Amino acid sequence: MGVTVSSSLTLGEGSTPLVPARRLQERLGLELYLKCEGLNPTGSFKDRGMVVAVERAARAGARAVVCASTGNTAASAAAYAARAGLEAIVLTPAGATATAKRAQARAAGARLLEVRGSFDDALRLSRELGEREGFVLVNSVNPDRIEGQKSVAGEILAQLGRVPDVVALPFGGGGNVSAVAAGFADAGASPRIVVGQAAERATTWASAIRIGEPAHAAHVAELVAAGRVEVVTLSEAELRSAWQRLSLEEGVFCEPASAAGVAVLERLSDVQGTTAVCIVTGHGLKDAGAVDEGGSDAVEATLDAVLAAIG
Ligand code: F0G
Repeated sequence: MGVTVSSSLTLGEGSTPLVPARRLQERLGLELYLKCEGLNPTGSFKDRGMVVAVERAARAGARAVVCASTGNTAASAAAYAARAGLEAIVLTPAGATATAKRAQARAAGARLLEVRGSFDDALRLSRELGEREGFVLVNSVNPDRIEGQKSVAGEILAQLGRVPDVVALPFGGGGNVSAVAAGFADAGASPRIVVGQAAERATTWASAIRIGEPAHAAHVAELVAAGRVEVVTLSEAELRSAWQRLSLEEGVFCEPASAAGVAVLERLSDVQGTTAVCIVTGHGLKDAGAVDEGGSDAVEATLDAVLAAIG
């Protein structure tokens, strides 16, 4: 079980827990497991592919790795580039990424440039920079990323001991669903794969998937046409509610985009009685600012005050 691609740069990516969703599954009437990808070294699923992409870039003699990011790719690229002794150049949409993700990238010494534009603008520029001598693009349009990210499928099969009926996950740029579909296909398994995208792609509250034009749109369309993937379009309210439930009912604190798979299962009317796995893509501490500041009260340092406060 676990990581299929070993690397001298490894930080221990993969082998994340598959956790039964005790209360959610009861309400939804199915057997539900959460694949907790936020427990990867930099707090998101990106590490599975990034370790491979950065290692190959280093071997190819790159000077720097380059990526566009809503934050998690940046944090991951920065960490592995630091280990490899490479520069990391990270382009983010200005003012649109979570503070902790930018901090991760800066802590690892990345050159962080906030582009006055969207993620799509940042990706266009990163692709152009990646064409230059010495620079390697490590967004998921780099096939090494997809190769590494496939490992999640084999892990799910090994941990569950069988093929799940349904696998649900978020759809931002579409790299992850491409990898997940390829990973199951490699293993000879064909679960129903359903992805959740934000209806308000360009402006969604779930900043990790605030992507107007998915880089893998054409491939995802092919997977849909072949009956291998289904796409569900989610409202902001659906995304928020699933994200809250994961914490409130399961104690699994993820970042807003990461709950899209749960939102998908909440929406589908024909999944009762199935065994489902949601890939929960990133840790809640990545975007702690998404949590309402209310709900904690200051009290005097007496038991009476505490008892009065809790009612
Ligand atoms: N979940 C999280 C936590 C993400 O950070 C992303 C993408 C996705 C889901 C969507 O995955 O793009 O492969 O469909 N984050 C990218 C980034 C865009 O820059 O970190 P996808």
